Amino acid sequence: MKTPQELIQKYNRPGPRYTSYPPVPFWNNSPNEATWIRHITQKYDAQKGIDLYVHVPYCESLCFYCGCNRTITKNHGVEKPYLSLLLDEWKLYEEKLGFTPAVNSLHFGGGTPTFLSPENLNMLMKHLLKNKTSEFIGSIEIDPRTCKTEHLDVLIENGIKRVSLGIQDFDPIVQKLINRHQPESLVESLVEKIRAKGISSVNFDLIYGLPGQTKESIVRTIEIVMKMKPDLIAFYSYAHLPDRIKNQRLIPENTLPSAELKRELYELGRKCLWDCGYTEIGMDHFALPSSYLHKAKDENGLHRNFMGYVDKKSSILLGLGPTSISDSSLSFVQNAKSMKDYEDLITKGSLPIEKGHSHSEIDLFVQKIILDLMCQNKAYIGNSSVPYSDEIHEELSKFKEDGIIEMLNNEILITELGKAFVRNVAMSFDYYLRAQTTKTKFSQTI
Ligand SMILES: C[S@@+](CC[C@H](N)C(=O)[O-])C[C@H]1O[C@@H](n2cnc3c(N)ncnc32)[C@H](O)[C@@H]1O
Ligand code: SF4
Repeated sequence: MKTPQELIQKYNRPGPRYTSYPPVPFWNNSPNEATWIRHITQKYDAQKGIDLYVHVPYCESLCFYCGCNRTITKNHGVEKPYLSLLLDEWKLYEEKLGFTPAVNSLHFGGGTPTFLSPENLNMLMKHLLKNKTSEFIGSIEIDPRTCKTEHLDVLIENGIKRVSLGIQDFDPIVQKLINRHQPESLVESLVEKIRAKGISSVNFDLIYGLPGQTKESIVRTIEIVMKMKPDLIAFYSYAHLPDRIKNQRLIPENTLPSAELKRELYELGRKCLWDCGYTEIGMDHFALPSSYLHKAKDENGLHRNFMGYVDKKSSILLGLGPTSISDSSLSFVQNAKSMKDYEDLITKGSLPIEKGHSHSEIDLFVQKIILDLMCQNKAYIGNSSVPYSDEIHEELSKFKEDGIIEMLNNEILITELGKAFVRNVAMSFDYYLRAQTTKTKFSQTI
C-alpha cells in the first residue's frame, strides 16, 4: 500500500477543476441565441426559479497571484456605466424570454463586488430582485479591504445572508510577495460586524502554495483564522500559470514553494483544519458541522456549479457581465470576455454570448458521474457504455489498488484517503480530455 505522500507524487498532474462538464476549453457546438432562449424556456419552472450570477470585474489593486477575470482601477466613474450594461443585459433576457424569471438565488462574484458603492450595489440588487421566490438566498464575495459597514446594511436589506471573504494568507511576508496587505485586525473587526448584522454564513478563501509560504506560516495563518472560526473554508491550491496569466510573472519563481513543500503545506493545512473540527465536504472545501454546506452534504443535497459548491441548484443559471457563464441544463454559454465586445453586443440588442456548448446524451451521462463524484464522493456508473470504457475500467482498478476508491455493484465510492484525488478519478471519465489533440493548460490536481 502506498503512503499518502507517494500517492500525491503519483497522481499530482494537471487537470480540470470540473466546475462544469465538459470543461470550458472543450466546448463546441454552441447554441445560437434562438436555441439558447428555447433551452431556457424548456427548462424554466416558475416555482423553482433560476440562479443568477452577477460578475463585477473591477478591483482597486492587483494581487499578483490572481487568476480571475478583472480590471484594476481606482476610478469609480466606471460603476454607473457598468451597472447600466448589466441592467440592459437583464432587460434583453426579459424581452427575449417574454417574462421576468423568478430569482431563487443570487451570487455576486468578481473581481470585487464591494468595489461598487453601497448605493450602486443596492440599486442593482433592488432591480434584479423584483421577482424572487419564497426560498430566495443571496451570497457575495467580499474583499475585506473594500467593505464598508454600509455595504453590510445593503446586503441585509436585500436578503444576502452568505458572504465569502478573500483572505489568502495572514503572513506579512507572503502578503508583501502577493501584493495584498490585509492585517488580521481589519479582518477581525469586519467579521465581528458581519456577525453582529445577522449574516448567517461566513466563508474564508485561503490559498496554499503562495510565494514565501512555509510550514510555520501556514500553521500561523490557520491559528489566526481559528480565532474567527468561519463556517466554511476554501483551501485552494495556488494555480500558477505565468505563461497565460501575465500578472503572475510579478512573482519571482525562487519565492514559490517547491512541489514537495507545496504538497506538505496542503497536507499540514488539511490536518490543522480537521483538528479544528472542519470536515472536507468536497474538493478544496472544508465546513463546520453546523454550516449549511455540511448539512447539505449530510442530506445528500450538495451540488456544484461554476461558482463552486452550493446547497441548492435550479435547472437554470443565468450569468450577467463579461465572462459570466450560464447553464440551461441542456447547454452552456459564456459571455464575451472583453468589456468592449460585451458592450457592443448589448448595444446591438443581442445577448452578449461568445461561445457555448450543447450537450449530447453522453455529455449529460458523464456530467452526472463527475458531479456525483465531486459532491457525494460516489457515482453509479451503470452498464451503459461510455467512450474509452476499457481504459476507464483499467484506471479504476489502479485507483482501487491504491485505496482511492472502492467498487460496489457498478458504484464507485471514493475512500477517505481518496478524497484528495477526486479530480483524478473524474478525469478518467472525461473523454474530451482523452481525445484532446492540443495541450490545454490546467492547474495541478493537488
Ligand atoms: C474573486 S476573488 C474573491 C473576492 C475578492 N476579489 C478578494 O480577492 O477578496 C476569488 C478567489 O479566487 C482565489 N484565487 C484567485 N486566483 C487564484 C489562483 N491563481 N490560484 C488559486 N486561487 C486563486 C482567491 O482565493 C480569491 O479569494
Ligand atoms: S484576488 Fe480578488 S481582489 Fe485580488 S485581484 Fe483577484 S479578484 Fe481582485
